[in-house]
Amino acid sequence: MSVREEFDEWAASGRDRGMEQRHWHTAKHALARMPVEPGDVVLDLGCGSGYAGRALRDTKEAGRVYGLDGAPEMARNAASYTDDPKVAYVVGDFDDLPFADDSIDHVWSMEAFYYAADPHHTLEEVARILRPGGTFYCAVNYYEENVHSHEWQERISIEMTRWDREQYRTAFRDAGIHVAAQDNVPDRETEIPDESAFPTEDWETREDMVERYREYGTLLTVGVAP
Ligand SMILES: C[S@@+](CC[C@H](N)C(=O)[O-])C[C@H]1O[C@@H](n2cnc3c(N)ncnc32)[C@H](O)[C@@H]1O
Repeated sequence: MSVREEFDEWAASGRDRGMEQRHWHTAKHALARMPVEPGDVVLDLGCGSGYAGRALRDTKEAGRVYGLDGAPEMARNAASYTDDPKVAYVVGDFDDLPFADDSIDHVWSMEAFYYAADPHHTLEEVARILRPGGTFYCAVNYYEENVHSHEWQERISIEMTRWDREQYRTAFRDAGIHVAAQDNVPDRETEIPDESAFPTEDWETREDMVERYREYGTLLTVGVAP
């Protein structure tokens, strides 16, 4: 199944909003750290419902916000959630970003980067479109150290790249992007039942669930274009 087929289906069944709710637990903390200044141009790579760009407009007065997604239904849904003329959703692929060199101040991506067919090339594309000093905030829940995420690949037909923390840093540098920071943003909101509820349908032990959400949360790698 292609990205388009898979995620068009997700959008049609309302999973775009479901993802938004879950990802917001950690995304909001990472978004708050972005050094977006009033008027800055921001791109959300793999925007899904498009919530991140709208939040940056509301909280930091980003000037123009683009959400790019490979699934037309995702982009259509995202556009239907706002009438802000400064926010635009475009259909495109991580392989070939439809933006000019040095034209974007900040790039954000949540739970999407690892779907890139060629993640090294996607990083080169990000480096190309970022203006000097621009940032890339790359947030993922699927990564090597998060052992609880490994099984996700079995549930989806698109090949996912599972890098570890160091591989993210190395790949950023190989693409010419400095690594300014990397850390885990804990999810403190997903409700974790008390011991007596385990095993649950999804979790063998409470310890595993605590590790997944409170410890691993979201891996955030922050890059800066030279
Ligand atoms: C798991 S969703 C995350 C959506 C949103 N960022 C969020 O936090 O809820 C991943 C999104 O990335 C998009 N995507 C995946 N691979 C892509 C690619 N190669 N090019 C463009 N979009 C892609 C999918 O269509 C999907 O909407």
